[in-house]
Amino acid sequence: NGSLSMASVPSLAASVRQRVSDALSAALPEAASADPLLRRSDRADFQANGMLALAKQLKGNPRELATKVVGALPENDEIKDVEVSGPGFLNITVSDAAIVRTLAARAADDRLGVPYAEHPGTTVIDYSQPNVAKEMHVGHLRSTVIGDAVVHILEHRGEKVIRRHHIGDWGTNFGMLIQYLIEHPHELDHETDAQGAKDAGEAAMARLNRLYKSSRAVFDSDEAFKARARDRVPALQSGDPETLALWHKIVDESKTYFQGVYAELDVEVRDEDVVGESAYNDDLHQVVKDLEESGVAVRSEGALCVFFEDVKGPDGTPTPLIVQKSNGGFGYAATDLAAIRNRIGELKADTLLYVVDARQALHFRMVFETAQRAGWLPEGAAKQLAFGTVLGKDGKPFKTRAGETVRLVDLLDEAIEHAAGVVREKAQDLTEEEIQDRAAQVGIGAVKYADLSNSMTRDYVFDLDRMVSLQGDTSVYLQYAYARIRSIFRRGGEAAKPVPHPELELAPAERALALQLDEFGDTLATVAEEYAPHKLTAYLYELASLYSRFFENCPVLKADTEEQKENRLFLCDLTARTLHQGMDLLGIRTPERL
Ligand code: ARG
Repeated sequence: NGSLSMASVPSLAASVRQRVSDALSAALPEAASADPLLRRSDRADFQANGMLALAKQLKGNPRELATKVVGALPENDEIKDVEVSGPGFLNITVSDAAIVRTLAARAADDRLGVPYAEHPGTTVIDYSQPNVAKEMHVGHLRSTVIGDAVVHILEHRGEKVIRRHHIGDWGTNFGMLIQYLIEHPHELDHETDAQGAKDAGEAAMARLNRLYKSSRAVFDSDEAFKARARDRVPALQSGDPETLALWHKIVDESKTYFQGVYAELDVEVRDEDVVGESAYNDDLHQVVKDLEESGVAVRSEGALCVFFEDVKGPDGTPTPLIVQKSNGGFGYAATDLAAIRNRIGELKADTLLYVVDARQALHFRMVFETAQRAGWLPEGAAKQLAFGTVLGKDGKPFKTRAGETVRLVDLLDEAIEHAAGVVREKAQDLTEEEIQDRAAQVGIGAVKYADLSNSMTRDYVFDLDRMVSLQGDTSVYLQYAYARIRSIFRRGGEAAKPVPHPELELAPAERALALQLDEFGDTLATVAEEYAPHKLTAYLYELASLYSRFFENCPVLKADTEEQKENRLFLCDLTARTLHQGMDLLGIRTPERL
């Protein structure tokens, strides 16, 4: 607040819905608070279907009811025409002036009239959680891209968002790596620092791979080393300084590598938000103690377990959540339980989100249920945003030709290379450097968009040709729409703020575009409430398509009159701002020229 241009603008849909709803209660007091079920429609601007169900419920005639509602609509300058149609729908047309006035109010606002949530809360979101000393793979792509978009979408609504990158930085495999480093202190040494985040990251990962291979070889062939490596684990867990120092060294190498990938992926991950499994180490004993004392967990064959009515293996025996192993070790579940206590108890979250592969759904179901039984988690407060698998063109989980999991960096490099081909073909006056620059924005945008435009739970096929296609539901299509609009302004629409003209009649393609622009705020509310970024991509694609139709049918710089030109430039400008804002929430760049 404080800034002048901060007014949320109700959509025409919302205001028409309110008018019909008021008329409905006036015509039929029993129907107060009934939903008029207003939808966009092909035959008019909106259609209200609510009278049908209502008449049925009250055993009346729907057409008669609809006619009464029309009679009860007070005179207003927003609804231009309303008629009863079919079995009892209302077809509603709004006035051109009302459309342009509403858009003018949006254009005057920095947030395009999009309101903040009425009751924002605090959300902790657990996403992009790669594992230390390992490569990031295509599964980490989805968690990173979806998580990043959800963060921006929620923040834009005014939610307080706390990011948690629950990286895999703890566990028995560190015993082997650290023991090897103790015995080969120069293993991670390197001469000069590489240039740039990406190269530095790749070099760090190469060193970690070498460390892993060498230590694995000794571990598998030398029993005495194996024993020393095992003894290293309790030393790590109890905080032995030498052991911890080497552990830090390994974690830091990994973070250097992760940051290289994030740089290429154009995603910001802040170090203070990287709070891995290790951060909860000191809380694990208390978690176990509390669960055992409250009876939520019970000892079974030495292990501390939580049982569930409906979770059974194929042979019918119950599959428990194991909180502590029989050898005293803690696993993944104990850490997640400690994290829940921290996030609800200390961070005061209202909502916990976990952007994690759907294949971990059972784990989270058991962890959430356990935390609820223990009284640490209010019912319904935690939700897994479970995502599907990325598939190869053969329809099977994406693998390299050699059958290995695909390294994320290789995949991103390939996407950028692919995009460079497309950009070069279209580029007219771009230098090679500019082409490479655009290629990164187009290629990474394509990968993100393809990931986000599929509904989260679905598997999808990774197909670069389709992803960077100029036709169809792709980010490149949207990026070109944006760049084309900006080029209009460079070529002659330089007026800083185009002036809208509510007195002008709108052509059909103008109305369709304008009504879509007006839906931006309503769409964002749904996208945030349902955690459904794919509904934002669908909205933006429709917007760009309607813009193309408008552009083909309505000359802008060569419009008949100066007023019409200004009005059309106004629509162009608002379209560009809406595309830009929408893409920004998805983490996708919109270059000014392509
Ligand atoms: N590190 C895990 C993996 O790569 C994902 C962690 C998910 N988050 C969590 N709180 N368990 O599969």
